[in-house]
Amino acid sequence: MFTLKGHTAIVTGGASGIGLATVEMLSKLGANIVIADLNAEAGNAVAKSINEAGTKAVFVETNVADADSVNALVNKTLEAFGSVEILMHFAGIGLEQHALDTTRENWDRIIGINLTGSFLVMQAAGREMVKNGYGRIVAMSSIAGIRGGTGRTAYGASKGGVAAMMRVMSMEWAKRGVTVNALAPGGIETALVKKMHDEETRRAYLAGIPMDRYGTPEEVAAAAVYLALPQSGYITGVSLAVDGGFEAAGVIKED
Ligand SMILES: NC(=O)c1ccc[n+]([C@@H]2O[C@H](COP(=O)([O-])OP(=O)(O)OC[C@H]3O[C@@H](n4cnc5c(N)ncnc54)[C@H](O)[C@@H]3O)[C@@H](O)[C@H]2O)c1
Repeated sequence: MFTLKGHTAIVTGGASGIGLATVEMLSKLGANIVIADLNAEAGNAVAKSINEAGTKAVFVETNVADADSVNALVNKTLEAFGSVEILMHFAGIGLEQHALDTTRENWDRIIGINLTGSFLVMQAAGREMVKNGYGRIVAMSSIAGIRGGTGRTAYGASKGGVAAMMRVMSMEWAKRGVTVNALAPGGIETALVKKMHDEETRRAYLAGIPMDRYGTPEEVAAAAVYLALPQSGYITGVSLAVDGGFEAAGVIKED
């Protein structure tokens, strides 16, 4: 019933973590894949394994914070496959630093990659989709863009900004066949989280997660792929939490 045959998907951050799991799931549904990432070694390896499994994939080395690089990504996608129907914009970096310690340099780095990068990629891919009258954009927000976790001044601001921008684009393109949604994951076991979450952070997170565990990249990819289907065409402007109940939680007593 569900197929993405004939659809082309750009997946930024597709060389690792949530992006990688999404590349694998999209390819199983038959989509052509463009993996866009800074990490050329890992990105090329992913493209090779997807091609060997029988779906078409190309890797395009991309820095999402650089407008020329993003424009080249869209052009290379059109050269390779002729159109772009799906954007999964997941490239991003993390930072845990309290407000009083956040340097201007770190602020600029996080906002530059996570927020400005999202603007550049969503605008460039969105332009093509609006032109064609069809598109599915899935941006990457975070529970840190909704809740006030400590140490998330720059990161939380960047992810809250992504959610706000997603809502605006979803309104502007609502009559143009292009849906724009975002994911708001909680703690997901990836390389980024292994770097960002020490034991103390992990304990603090688990105390607030009703399911009492971190999520897997595949659990986020499944939500992303759902929002990329033609059948999800009446959903737009939504931040979908994939967080084991973290956002919904109030006081929880044991049974
Ligand atoms: N893991 C979590 O718990 C979690 C929770 C909420 C949101 N997120 C968000 O999900 C996204 C993916 O995170 P992940 O956990 O899979 O991380 P990850 O580190 O495993 O993957 C991120 C990928 O993005 C790429 N990347 C980084 N900067 C880039 C740039 N400037 N241009 C192009 N590519 C770049 C990296 O090379 C890497 O392959 C991020 O936006 C992150 O903020 C993650």
